[in-house]
Formats: sequence, C-alpha cells, structure tokens
Amino acid sequence: MCGIVGYIGEQEASPFLLEGLRRLEYRGYDSAGIVTVDRHRFHSRKSVGRIVELEHKLRADDAAGQLGIGHTRWATHGAANEKNAHPHFDQRGAIAVVHNGVVENFRGLRESLQAEGRAFKSETDSEVIAQLIGASLEKRLAAGETPAAADRYSVLVDAVNDALVRLRGTYGLVVIFRDFPGVMIAARLGSPIVLGVGASEHFVASDASPLVGYTDKIVYLADHQTAVITANSLHVTHRDQGQIQPHVEQLQANGADAGLDGYPHYMLKEIFEQPEALRNAMRGRVSEDDATAKFGGLNLRPNQLRGVDRIILTACGTSWHAGLLGEYIIEDLAGIPVEVEYASELRYRNPPLDNNTLLFAITQSGETADTLAALREMKRKGHPTLAICNVVGSSIAQEADGGVYLHAGPEVGVASTKAYTTQCLVLAMLALYFGRLRNLSFEAGQKIIRQLQELPDAVAKALETNDEVKRIAAKYAECRNFLYLGRQFNFPTALEGALKLKEISYLHAEGYPAAEMKHGPIALVDERTPSVVVVPRGFVFEKVMANVEEVKARGGPVIAVCAEECERVKEVVDDTITVPAVDSFVQPIVSIVPLQLLAYHIAVLRGCDVDKPRNLAKSVTVE
Ligand code: AGP
Repeated sequence: MCGIVGYIGEQEASPFLLEGLRRLEYRGYDSAGIVTVDRHRFHSRKSVGRIVELEHKLRADDAAGQLGIGHTRWATHGAANEKNAHPHFDQRGAIAVVHNGVVENFRGLRESLQAEGRAFKSETDSEVIAQLIGASLEKRLAAGETPAAADRYSVLVDAVNDALVRLRGTYGLVVIFRDFPGVMIAARLGSPIVLGVGASEHFVASDASPLVGYTDKIVYLADHQTAVITANSLHVTHRDQGQIQPHVEQLQANGADAGLDGYPHYMLKEIFEQPEALRNAMRGRVSEDDATAKFGGLNLRPNQLRGVDRIILTACGTSWHAGLLGEYIIEDLAGIPVEVEYASELRYRNPPLDNNTLLFAITQSGETADTLAALREMKRKGHPTLAICNVVGSSIAQEADGGVYLHAGPEVGVASTKAYTTQCLVLAMLALYFGRLRNLSFEAGQKIIRQLQELPDAVAKALETNDEVKRIAAKYAECRNFLYLGRQFNFPTALEGALKLKEISYLHAEGYPAAEMKHGPIALVDERTPSVVVVPRGFVFEKVMANVEEVKARGGPVIAVCAEECERVKEVVDDTITVPAVDSFVQPIVSIVPLQLLAYHIAVLRGCDVDKPRNLAKSVTVE
C-alpha cells in the first residue's frame, strides 16, 4: 500500500524514480507521481492507474534534475485522481512531500491552516504535512534564519520537525525543497523508510526492493528518526537522543529473482516456486539427531519456551488461515492450548491472559498495520512476542522479540501463495519443536521430520495437476458462487481456497467446515454453484462423503481434491483432482496447491488482473 522513492546524487533522478515505483507496484496503488528539481524549478508529473501511464507522460515531457521523489498512492482520503496523487506541495509550491501512513488529525490541522489563508489543492490528509512545513519555514525565513549546507540545513530540518510534532498518526515521508536542491529530508513514525547509500548518491524507499542493483548498503530508519540526506552525506537524528550514528547494513537480495522468468504472472511463478520455497524454509532447521526443529532467532531460552502455557497466533487474511492450521497442528503435536486471533480484533480486545502466554505474529510483509498494533499491545502488556515473517528487516521483524523468517523469496503477486505454504511449514516445525520440549517422543519427532522432508516433492507432484485444473477452471469459470468445504486440518484449506478465488476473480466464494454446511450454506446449493471439497483420508472420510452426497442430491456440482486415487469419490463427484497423500497434519500444504491454481486459471479466463487485483494492496499499512 503506497510506495515511496527518492534520489539525490550526480545522475538524473527520474529513471531511478520510475524503476523504483515499478518495483513497488506489487504493494497495490491507484495513482502515481514524481517531482524533480532542476535549476530551482519543480517538474511534477502525475497519473492515475498504472505506472506505465506515468512513463508515457515522462517520455512525452521529461522531468530533469538530480534530486527527486516519487510515490504510488492507494487511496484512503479522497478519490484516486491526479489532484490527490502525491507529491503534494505547500502554498508557495516550494516544498514537495511524499507520505505513507495516515494523519489522523488532518481535519483540524487543515482547518487551522485554511483559517491562516492557506488554500488546499487536494482532499488528502498528506497535503497538510507540506502546508505545515511551508508555514513554519516561511516564518523562520522571515525571522532571518538562513538554511546553509554548513549547518546541515538546520532551518529546513527545524521546519520539518515543527510539522511532525503536530501530527497524530503514522508517517514515512520524504521532503524536498525547490530553492535548496542540495538536500532531501526523510522521517519515519510507524511507516517504513529505507535509505540506500551509494557513491556520491543516496536513495530512499519505503522498502528495500527499489534499491536492489543500485546499492547494497542500506540504513533502516527507526521511529522518531529524521535523516538529512545530501549526495555525499547522511545525518540521522532521533527525537529524544539527538544525533545518532546510522547503522549501515548489507542489503540481502532475498534469494529468488524478482523477474517473471517466462511466467505470464507472478502468482503463477510463485505457485510453482513452492517446492523450492519449502526447501529453503526448512533448510538447517530440522535435526534428525535430536529429532526436533531448531531456530536461530527465537531469542528465548528453552526453559522459557517450555514454560509457555498458551500461545496466541495473530494475523490477517491468508496469514490468519495459516495461523488456524497452526492451531490444529500445535495443539495436536505439542498439547499447548492455542488461540488464533484476527489482529484487527486483538489490538482492541482485552482478553484475560496469564503470565506464560506467548504471541506469534504471522505476516508475509511484516508491515500489516493491524498485526503490528496487536504485537505492540501484547508487548506493552509484557508478553514475549515472536514474528513469523517473510520480509527481512520489516517493521514487525524489527519490533518482535525474535522470530522465524520464512525464506520464501520475494512474493510479488498480491494473492499470497508461497508465503502461505511456508508459514504453514514453519508452524508445523514450531509444533515439533514445542512438542519435543514436552511430551513428544524421540521416535515420534523423527517420524514427523521424515514427513516434513517429503513435502517439497509432494508439492512438486501436486503442481503436475496444473493442466487438469485448467480444464476444470474452464468448465466453471462462468459460475458466480462457489462453496469450499474442508474438515479438521483442511478446514483452513477451504477458507484459503475461497479467499484466493475472491481476491483475484471477484467471484463470491465461501469456505466452511464441511459438516457445518447443512446449518445454512446448503441453501445456496444449485446446479450453478460448485462445491470444491477437500476430501480427507482417515476416520472423517465417510462423514465428508456424506456431505458430498448432500450437495449432489441438491444438484450441486462437486470438484473434489483427493489425496491419492479414490474410485469411491470419482463415482460420486463431477471432477476430481488427485494430489499426493502425506500425513494428515501436513496434507493442507499439498492440497492447497490445486486450489491456488483453480483460482488463478478462473481469474485469467475472466480477464482479471491477477497480480494486481482491484482494490487490494500487497501490504496493508493502514488500519
Ligand atoms: C493474501 O492473499 C492477501 N493478499 C491478504 O489476505 C494478506 O494475507 C493479508 O493482508 C495479511 O498480509 P501479511 O501476511 O503481509 O500480514
């Protein structure tokens, strides 16, 4: 959601700005803009829709200058149009700002600025920041203060800080000045800002992806820090600590190539990357000698973890579905009571929690605003907090006491696929680890490790259903409603399969525990409403088959996902997709694959924008 880039140096700024915004497209946006400074003039270009529109504008009318900032906007306050697209300017058009986050008190600020005679051009909350900086700077300049490089542009920094103290809410922002083209100021509170250090140049971005290939030296700005950036210098101050030495880190390219590699969409590429992603998530984390899993970054001693009486898994969306599966597996293998909480609910709830409660925040991006807030609330209450996260250095990864990285590689498609399966695997490994701290035997631990190790190959085999799934997708692509049914470990699979279809094909889909269907959703069943049923093996097989018969008796088509060939199922249902059978606690990691493919092919057939579905953002950084 919303992306920021900035450049100062000896090169033209606009090529980096454009490329950076392209790399941030995955976050979701509906308009974009850049501004550069050249010979004390701003060159601003904005467009609605895709970055390619902005590119056309720049091709027709270049924006010259070796200093510039850019932004992709996901509308919150005001419609998606050029007027509301960033950068925003102060009254004199001498200060430009790009901003991520939400200014909660913008209405009051806007009214008081309007009362001073300042005219606003947009409906956004962000414009008040530019106007506040402008108002402060005008006063300071009128009082005879002069910005100079020698004193690190302190007047400009003071004007920015004057504005920041008046804001309530969150910001990651970058400010440039038409009349002072030697400097760029960045600040952060709750919305990430990453600085890239080059030779006689600096970069800014809202995550590290735009910086790859430009520099491998990065600095993560922390909350309440402000950076004063010139081509050759970087000075960081903290609101309470004054000047601090920036901690320069090595940028990790995060393994996989972020290109399409010949696939038509990132989602399909990422579905097919799952065997490798699972191998990477598991690498070095299971010990056959100790019959357990091992994690380097939990930062809690085994005796502290052994003392945990209750685990809370908190997340949103797909990550919440992984949490639900985690609950089933952890309770089964480790016998620890687990609750799965929507982060947006947990952040404002006040559940009674005993001392030995451990929180895991599960998040692909590590930037989800609700998940971050829930984590902070649990930290504030004194509970240990751990993250299960894909993006290295993200806000949640930094704020948690410790955690486990997924190592799934960059996930660009808005619909999460490989992050989901690796989250499920990491939760299964944690269940093994907690189980072995308690009553799980050495022998049982070794058996679980063997089952985990089978997974990448089983998922690779499940991917071979692609052609069959495509055929089935063509058969049902015109239907408007779908039911997804699963039971026990595969109830989360049903929820996740339905979410995938909703997200990218804009069709109505509901996930249910199979047996719950007769308590209401069965009323939806007709010949145009397919039910996608994840058929289990074992003792609930007959019970799920009874639900299948109930759907068929009402004329509803059934698509069954079976673990191993099953004639009995084939006789009853309309279409069968067979995936390899693995142990029931990890079967969902295999059975979700054809459901991801089904959603993908239906969306393609319906002409939907698979990687950038309407209204959605990859990283949901607003409440
Ligand atoms: C997944 O396909 C969705 N795009 C969405 O539900 C996502 O899982 C959710 O927004 C949470 O994101 P996170 O994992 O980055 O925290």
